[in-house]
Amino acid sequence: MASTLKLSNPALWKEQCYIDGKWESGSETFKVYDPSTGNEIGSCPEYGVNETRRAIDAAATAFKTWGSTTGKERYDIMMKLFNLMKENSEDLAQICTLENGKPLADSKGEITYSASFIEWFAGEAIKETGDIIPHPMKNIRSLVIKQPIGPCGIITPWNFPSAMAGRKLAAALGAGCTVVMKAPAETPYSMLAMVELCEQAGVPKGVVNVITTDKNTKDVGKEMCENKKLKKITFTGSTPVGKILMSQSANTLKKLSLELGGNAPFIVFEDADIEAAIAGVIACKFRQSGQTCVCANRIYVHSSIYDEFASRLAEKVEAFKVGNPFDSNTTHGPLIHSKAVDKTDAHVKDAIEKGAKVLVGGKKLTELGENFYAPTVLTDVQHCAINDDETFGPVAALYRFDSESEVIEQANDTDVGLAAYFFSRDIGRIWRVAEALEVGMVGINTGLISQASIPFGGIKESGFGREGSKYGLADYQIIKYLAMGGLDR
Ligand code: SIN
Repeated sequence: MASTLKLSNPALWKEQCYIDGKWESGSETFKVYDPSTGNEIGSCPEYGVNETRRAIDAAATAFKTWGSTTGKERYDIMMKLFNLMKENSEDLAQICTLENGKPLADSKGEITYSASFIEWFAGEAIKETGDIIPHPMKNIRSLVIKQPIGPCGIITPWNFPSAMAGRKLAAALGAGCTVVMKAPAETPYSMLAMVELCEQAGVPKGVVNVITTDKNTKDVGKEMCENKKLKKITFTGSTPVGKILMSQSANTLKKLSLELGGNAPFIVFEDADIEAAIAGVIACKFRQSGQTCVCANRIYVHSSIYDEFASRLAEKVEAFKVGNPFDSNTTHGPLIHSKAVDKTDAHVKDAIEKGAKVLVGGKKLTELGENFYAPTVLTDVQHCAINDDETFGPVAALYRFDSESEVIEQANDTDVGLAAYFFSRDIGRIWRVAEALEVGMVGINTGLISQASIPFGGIKESGFGREGSKYGLADYQIIKYLAMGGLDR
């Protein structure tokens, strides 16, 4: 176990895969690094197609029994898991910070968020109902029942190592599905710790299986998409990878949930509460150092308040403390790896070349380590790479606008549509703009929208399907119609 960790429950540190209720070590492994120091923190099995098939077979066998458990049986096990996550939250947060680099306070928030999905879907499982539909013929009744879709493949990203696994696993378990999860190579340990807790909670063998892999990622993903025994794939990650998974799933007509890239617009109208809008930008843009799919990417500020807004935002950003994520004063940690730093830097340089000015930051923080980038505020941003591609880094790019119609057109001028935000106190405008924005989620006078109880998901090339909320279970179910006759005898 990495020496930085002080776990009360060392069993949570797992460097193995989990198939059919057994922890397995691989003969080949890949290394995992702390993004803050660059130090190696451990290694995990480099599994491939054969092990993925074994995991899928285990999930298919376990589905025969798990798929017919009652909602109450699943609720009981899931609530045990929820309670174990709460009891072990300090340890889980340490693991998350070590592998991802987010400050410890953020990791604690993530564990609470992750566990909240388990609690939410336990509740959905126990209260799930069907329908009775009036039938035009007297002696027939029409009924609708909902059944689990079957074994599911789960592929999650490194930016929320616990919460993205929690969100998908919870919905699958609640619906009565079994799963094969592929852990992100950069951050496998949070998912493995969650699976250890699944075992402790009494999740039966074969219901939850985990594969770790780095160089075989593409082959493992392809197998999950093409294997007939998996009935659904849920993926959070980039739009290009989502498109590949969708085409690989075509042959088996697999059900898909894709939560893909965003390029969120954040609009501050002239009638906004400026203080609240600045707090909104900070929460939304700089959460997890800009490495979330729902982060503001293009910040549009009305000309009449632009200069004041920019300088007040810059003052706050300048006060951030970037550094060791285990240090309690640190507000922002490193990015995940040097590729992320290079992309952020390239976006900033491109914006500057096209006329933007740097108010704060705008550079790599090499004195802190290879993966640190200074939280940045850019003003007078013109059309540049940031318009068309999410930066996934701590860069607030401020664009000017003059009219509502113009800014809506600019906000919608992108192929993706996950989240959008705006600040205004005009009730008419609030309805108009909320309805006009081409996204799946709109934050109105708030920069934070995520909760277990809301339908998280996008439109356009941000994908489809909804995670969390009363709609989330449906993505893991089939609807079966029963026509019941013979009532006249
Ligand atoms: C994501 O970045 O994919 C998820 C963010 C969230 O759940 O708030």
